Amino acid sequence: MAAAISWKDEYSVNIQEIDEQHKMLIQMIDDLFVVISRNKEQTLEECEVCKVLERLIDYTRIHFAVEESLMRIFDYPDYEAHKAMHDQFIDEVMMFERRLKSNKNKSSEQLVAIEMLFRLKEWLVNHIVGIDKAYSRHMLNRGAAKSWIRKFW
Ligand SMILES: [Fe+2]
Repeated sequence: MAAAISWKDEYSVNIQEIDEQHKMLIQMIDDLFVVISRNKEQTLEECEVCKVLERLIDYTRIHFAVEESLMRIFDYPDYEAHKAMHDQFIDEVMMFERRLKSNKNKSSEQLVAIEMLFRLKEWLVNHIVGIDKAYSRHMLNRGAAKSWIRKFW
C-alpha cells in the first residue's frame, strides 16, 4: 500500500532534533492513513481512527510546546503569529475528532476521516516548509545546534 505521506529531505529545517519530531508526526499521519484504509472493512463499535488520532494530537501538542519554547528562548520575532497557527491547527484537528465521534455510521465516519487526512498532510507539509524553516534560520543564525551532540532517548 502506498504511503499517504513520507519524509522528504526538502522538509528538513536543518535542526536535527526538530526534523526527528517532524518525522514522527509524518509517521503518525501515515499510521492514520493505514487505519482509515482498513476502516471500511471493520464493524467496530468504537471509532478506531479516533484512537490513532488521539495519539497524534498528544504528540503534536508536545512538539508544538517544544517549538514554542525554543522560539521564546531564541527570542523569535514572529513567535505570536507562529503560536497562533499552532493553536488554530489543534482546534481544527479537535473539531475533526468531534465530527468523527459524532458520526452515526461507518460511511460518514470514513468521509470525515479522509477529509481530515488530506487536511493534516496539507497543513503539516506547508507549515514545515513555509513556516518552520523561518524560525530555524533565525535559531541557526543565533547558534542553535544543527545536529545532536548527545542522544537522550
Ligand atoms: Fe511550527
